[in-house]
Amino acid sequence: MEHEEVEKAARLIVKASYVIALVGAGMSVESGIPPFRGPGGLWTKYGEPDMRGYDRFLADPKGWWEARLKREGYGRELVDKISQAKPNPGHHALAELEGMGVLKHIITQNVDNLHQAAGSKKVAEIHGNLYKLRCISCNSRFERDDFPLEELPPLCPQCGGLVKSDGVMFGEPIPPDVLERCQEETAKCDCMLLIGTSAVVYPAAAFPTMAMSQGACLIEINPLETPLSSRCDAVIRGPSGEALPTLVKRIKELRAGQA
Ligand code: APR
Repeated sequence: MEHEEVEKAARLIVKASYVIALVGAGMSVESGIPPFRGPGGLWTKYGEPDMRGYDRFLADPKGWWEARLKREGYGRELVDKISQAKPNPGHHALAELEGMGVLKHIITQNVDNLHQAAGSKKVAEIHGNLYKLRCISCNSRFERDDFPLEELPPLCPQCGGLVKSDGVMFGEPIPPDVLERCQEETAKCDCMLLIGTSAVVYPAAAFPTMAMSQGACLIEINPLETPLSSRCDAVIRGPSGEALPTLVKRIKELRAGQA
C-alpha cells in the first residue's frame, strides 16, 4: 500500500464537504465472506447465476420459496458465511469516519448487515439485506426470522402482496425508496470512496460516473485494478481491512493539524 496514495486520499477527504462510500463484496472478504468475481469469487466457483432469477420467482413463487428453504450451491455457501461473519477493521473504520462527521453515507451492494453491526447508521443497501423480507407490492420490509413461513408463498400482512427475500435478484428492479436515496446521496457528494467493488453491476456502477460528472473526486480502495481505476484521483492498492484504518488514522492527524 503506497504511503503517497494514502496521503493523497486523506487530503482529498479532509478537503471535501460531502464524502460518501460505494461499497462492494471486497469490503467483507476479510470477514470471511467470498466475493462474487475474481479470485475466490462465488461466480468464479459456481458460474454466473441465472439472470432471470426474478422472472422465475414471479412464475412460481411457491416453488421458489421451497427451493430457497432447501438452499443449495452458492446460496448455501453465501448464507452460511454471512451468518458467521463479524465486521472487520474496515467496517469499524467507516463507522468511525461517520462518527467524526466525515463520511455522510454508505451505499453498499452487500446484504451482510456488517456496516450496521459495526455501528454505521447512514447505510443504503441497494441490493437489500439478507436478514429482511420484502413485499413486492407495497415494499414493506420485515425481519426474516420473525416472519411466519408455514404458508408458502408468504403474503404481506399489510397488503396481501407476495413476500420475498429483501435481497435483490438479477432482473429485479431496485426498490424505489432505496434507489432514490442512493441517487440523492450521489448527487450531493464531492468525494466518493470506491471500496471493494468491481464496479460492473448497474445501477450501482453508474454512481461513480454520476459523481465524476459533477466534479467529485474518486478514491479507490481495492487490492486489484478495476475498470474505474484509471479515472480515480487516488488509488490505495490494498485490502480494505488494512487500508481503511490506515486512512482514518491519517485523516485524524490532518484534522488535528499534524502535517
Ligand atoms: N479489500 C478490498 N477489496 C477487495 C478485497 C479486500 N480484501 N478482496 C477483493 N476485493 C475486491 C476485488 O478486487 C473486486 O474488485 O472486491 C471486488 C469484488 O468484486 P465483486 O465480487 O464483483 O463484488 P461487487 O462489486 O460487490 O459485485 C456487485 O454483483 O453479483 C452481484 O449482487 C452481487 O452485489 C454484487 C454485485
